Amino acid sequence: MIIDTHAHIDFDEYADKFEQMLVCAKENNVENIIIPAVEPTTFERVLKTAEKSQMLYCAMGVHPSEAKTYNDEVEQTIIEYCKSKKVVAIGECGLDYYWDKSFNDIQKEVFVRQIRIANELHKTLIVHDREAHLDTLTLLKENASKELSVVMHCFSGSYEFGMECINQGYYLAFGGVSTFKNAKKAHEVIERMPLEYLLLETDSPYLTPEPFRGKENQPAYLKYVVEKIASLRNISPNEVEEITTNNAKRAFNLV
Ligand code: NI
Repeated sequence: MIIDTHAHIDFDEYADKFEQMLVCAKENNVENIIIPAVEPTTFERVLKTAEKSQMLYCAMGVHPSEAKTYNDEVEQTIIEYCKSKKVVAIGECGLDYYWDKSFNDIQKEVFVRQIRIANELHKTLIVHDREAHLDTLTLLKENASKELSVVMHCFSGSYEFGMECINQGYYLAFGGVSTFKNAKKAHEVIERMPLEYLLLETDSPYLTPEPFRGKENQPAYLKYVVEKIASLRNISPNEVEEITTNNAKRAFNLV
């Protein structure tokens, strides 16, 4: 069994094939899927989607690219949603300097506020870090409590940066990118990192693994990521499944 720790299956892309997509996921060994929110207008949809099946959980938070939508009211709404057992994490939140660098300060402030909510509510933190490794780690070190469970979603750093995160106790999540031939950095991290910190994710509908790169992604395709990681580590796909599932259960406090 495997756990897709990051899939945007609340998106419109899946609306008219939702059941079919879930059946396909189950047929391909996916046991649980965590649906992260990206911005406030979709919080309700994210929770409603998670409530559709026992295998689904979700996270509430604001993506760094949407940081300008964050305010006191949104923060209260996130806290309110966290009362639901379906909500296992805050996120995705973090820093993204790739798309737009014009509001880095707002991104930082909004990230810190969400780290603090996660501390207070004892929820896991799903971190989006794109071309902002140093600032992301600094803000986490300064603000995350010792007990906070932190997941570095779509990890894109070097082996050295990965080890800095792992030394803080953070998990590194990998998906479709790891199946790309030219993803040398991801391959090196996966080959050398301690397996107890490795998580799987698809980031559906994005980042579709080989052999479907460029098409729409879905949780069922996690098996291609499992196969790739198994070959990089020279262990069986079953071992990858077992280890990463245990890790995900620990990281997200799933029972
Ligand atoms: Ni995402």
